[in-house]
Amino acid sequence: MKITFYGHACVGIEVSGKNVLIDPFISGNPKASHIDVNALKADYILLTHAHQDHILDVETIAKNNNSVVVSNYEIASHFGNKGLQYHPMNHGGSWQFEFGKVKYVPAIHTSSFPDGSYGGQPGGFVIEGEHKNIYIAGDTSLTMDMKLIPMRTELDLAILPIGSNFTMDVDDAIIASDFLKCDKILGYHFDTFGYIIIDHTLAKKKFFDAGKDLMLLEIGESIMI
Ligand code: NI
Ligand code: MN
Repeated sequence: MKITFYGHACVGIEVSGKNVLIDPFISGNPKASHIDVNALKADYILLTHAHQDHILDVETIAKNNNSVVVSNYEIASHFGNKGLQYHPMNHGGSWQFEFGKVKYVPAIHTSSFPDGSYGGQPGGFVIEGEHKNIYIAGDTSLTMDMKLIPMRTELDLAILPIGSNFTMDVDDAIIASDFLKCDKILGYHFDTFGYIIIDHTLAKKKFFDAGKDLMLLEIGESIMI
């Protein structure tokens, strides 16, 4: 499984020969100006919630790739009404896609579309594929519900927001890591805006001191798990 960070909360996953893209927000992110939206590949686009900093480039990328949009019922239908292929889910539900099994799990956040219309309830995803399992939290606070995830799935990697203000901060992400029984964390949702700027060295030190590994990738950088 290859995981590429495209800035903010956008992550690309290559799994079982398919390209899965999470929460594309590139054209509106000045820090990601070196990423060409039109060059991105996506067989599937998974959306955690409807906020603009998670859906901005969905239509462009989906039209370029004939992608299937996977999200909660409200978000998936919204993009279906625009003519895109879609697969609606809701919390607690799983589906076996051709690249792996996806479960939509709860997040504590909000989920309006940029025009204020209802974007369902926000979530995260557990993806089981190619003998590796990952959790993408989406925008969320620390929540006890995270304890449920390792009861069903042994995680190899958890992708957690760490920027605070709109989501968990670093200290809560360390507790989340305990709840998830996963010590390998990829941090996201930091530095994009003034509200969520973090001290990278301090964040990594806090995780290290807790016996955990926090990875912070450059935009465009990849890791293999
Ligand atoms: Ni959000
Ligand atoms: Mn966000």
